[in-house]
Amino acid sequence: MNRLLLVANRLPISITKRLGELRFTPSPGGLATGLSSLSKSYECLLIGWPGIASEKLTVEDKAKINEKLSAQKCSPIFLSQKQVEHYYLGFCNKTVWPLFHYLPLNAVYENRFWQTYKQVNQTFCDEVIKIAKDGDSVWIHDYQLMLLPQLIRQKLAEVKIGFFLHIPFPSFELFRLLPWREEILNGLLGADLIGFHTYDYVRHFLTSVCRISGLEHTLGKLSVGNRIVKVDAFPMGIDYKKYSQAANDTGVQKEVRKILQKVGNRKIVISIDRLDYTKGIIQRLEAFDLFLSENPEYKGKVTLIIVAVPSRTGLEDYRTLRNKLEQLVGRVNGEHGTIGWVPVWYLYRFIPFKRLVALYKIADVALVTPLRDGMNLIAKEFIATKTDGRGVLIVSEMTGAASELGEALIVNANNKAAIVTAIKEALEMPTDEQVERNRLMQERLSRYNVSRWSSDFLHALSEVSKDQQELSVRKLTESTRNNLIRDYGKARMRLFLLDYDGTLVGFRDRPEKAGPDAETITLLQSLSSDTKNHVVVISGRDKPTLTKWLGSLNVALIAEHGAWTRQKGRDWQCVKLLKNDWKDTIRPVLELYADRTPGSFVEEKDFSLVWHYRRADPELAYVRTQELRGALLNLTANLNVGVFEGSKILEIRDLSLNKGRAAELWLAKKNWDFIFTAGDDYTDEDMFNVLPEKAYSIKVGLSISKARFNVDTVYEIRLLLKELAGD
Ligand code: G6P
Repeated sequence: MNRLLLVANRLPISITKRLGELRFTPSPGGLATGLSSLSKSYECLLIGWPGIASEKLTVEDKAKINEKLSAQKCSPIFLSQKQVEHYYLGFCNKTVWPLFHYLPLNAVYENRFWQTYKQVNQTFCDEVIKIAKDGDSVWIHDYQLMLLPQLIRQKLAEVKIGFFLHIPFPSFELFRLLPWREEILNGLLGADLIGFHTYDYVRHFLTSVCRISGLEHTLGKLSVGNRIVKVDAFPMGIDYKKYSQAANDTGVQKEVRKILQKVGNRKIVISIDRLDYTKGIIQRLEAFDLFLSENPEYKGKVTLIIVAVPSRTGLEDYRTLRNKLEQLVGRVNGEHGTIGWVPVWYLYRFIPFKRLVALYKIADVALVTPLRDGMNLIAKEFIATKTDGRGVLIVSEMTGAASELGEALIVNANNKAAIVTAIKEALEMPTDEQVERNRLMQERLSRYNVSRWSSDFLHALSEVSKDQQELSVRKLTESTRNNLIRDYGKARMRLFLLDYDGTLVGFRDRPEKAGPDAETITLLQSLSSDTKNHVVVISGRDKPTLTKWLGSLNVALIAEHGAWTRQKGRDWQCVKLLKNDWKDTIRPVLELYADRTPGSFVEEKDFSLVWHYRRADPELAYVRTQELRGALLNLTANLNVGVFEGSKILEIRDLSLNKGRAAELWLAKKNWDFIFTAGDDYTDEDMFNVLPEKAYSIKVGLSISKARFNVDTVYEIRLLLKELAGD
């Protein structure tokens, strides 16, 4: 069994100290519950905070904690009072938590909180590094540790790192409000796999990465430096059996009897959450209040049991919420209650497992109506305990869980009238219907349970690592590089076919129209000064541009992907006479799209038209590209032209034009004993395709290619060429 380091802010065990005595209790929250079931399938080591400030602990306390926790495979991270205030209560729960739950007005942005967040992430990193061994995987959890993936990556380049966010990832419009948004994204991108509960969160994240870091994804894969980072949705499940089997446990039955004795034969509605303002508890209670006012026949016949588990009591917002809720409970009970019937039972405490299951079991209705919730496991646990099939779930559409619970009554948590209607519908739903709806959800939840969730995630993590290994296998290694240099040295007739943009010169280094820098010119000069070398720059650029930039050098030029060729110091020659009258039909369409897409423009060459959108808003450009492709499909149907998608361009050109044909002409010219080709774009693939086996072909960028080898950057190609040129 492989070792798995599970790193989360909170350990599944929390420690409190009363009158000098340490108490160990299970931690509240979905994350802790989910993680505890993981250890059955993996050899897990847990790293996290035990929930108490270190100032409250003596040296002996710490030793005792270490001993007790290490028996449970947990490593505690001790945080000082100040760190608890600035990192946990501050950045995590006053900044990220409200912002990511779409409550930007509750969020504060304080530099001291951010500084401590960085510091604590570093402390977690130090601990992971102490423990991690070769072959381990590290799985980091949640918003408290978003910088950790990159921090670990910097120290342990080879370790597999997964990250899972248990809360929503908000839309870009919200995320951009965070002053440290770029650092947070970079932190996350240190992982190999980044998981979210739903596809919506994946989408939001990828949009933010594109807008903020300029990286675009292909089917959820991002190329970050020399690594691939995969982003995907893994809806977290529950330990289904634990809940369904517990429903028949004798301890649970005892609890059930105890509760039923008190409620009699009244209908029961339950509301169970951590006491958090994102959970919509106030709105839910207001809806219940309205339900009783509008349906007086239910008075005395239904009881709402609210369980609010204490949470983040160090924060004002949570204390205010508690006061508000308690006042409201008092008001509702005062208004509707009668002697012998209390409409709302309110419990402010942690509920042990058996009592929790008993509550689920006896409930006729579960009201789960958060304003926002990453997933919500309460809804799933409720369904799992309904072994006789009876009971109705009302769930908010703003939870991640709603997308898997389509047979529940789904409501908008802000729509009180809709909740009232749903409560009535639930209380009156025929038993057959309840059973049928629950059966479908139960089948789904029992299949995609927590161990499926974790194994899916860990499987995807090892798949990304495999992808990366394959790429690194094809990376130009030191020994291939040495062979290449050796073969170069022995050769007498050498051909260099070099693409220009993205190969000799980086897109990001030079503005599109700036031309080569002095270093590129010197490099081409020294390479071509060796009489054994024939250097050909093979580009998609037009003749005038190449003449202006490289015309005075001792190199041959190929323009427009092979439409034109120019020997050293001679005139341009048309490789093949092609028609270009189709341009009059296509040009106005491209111009229309350029006008409708700020930042984009049309380039016209002799035998092709190109729509460039590098400087346009990436999302608008994406939409426009799809539209434009559609529009061109009909227009080009009867012409001998193709529509090609390159790096931030859409090019329309004669189908018989490609770099492969142009390269073939050069390959046939002499009996070359050394061939070197390099390119970065889809157009260069045609060139790689026609090469003899012994040729050295190098793709700049770590993506799939017909080239034999990959290098990461333009810098590496230039370094290699410099070395060959003897510079
Ligand atoms: C949510 C978060 C968890 C967190 C839990 C309890 O489920 O996603 O990361 O641990 O709430 O909150 P707390 O602040 O007590 O850790």
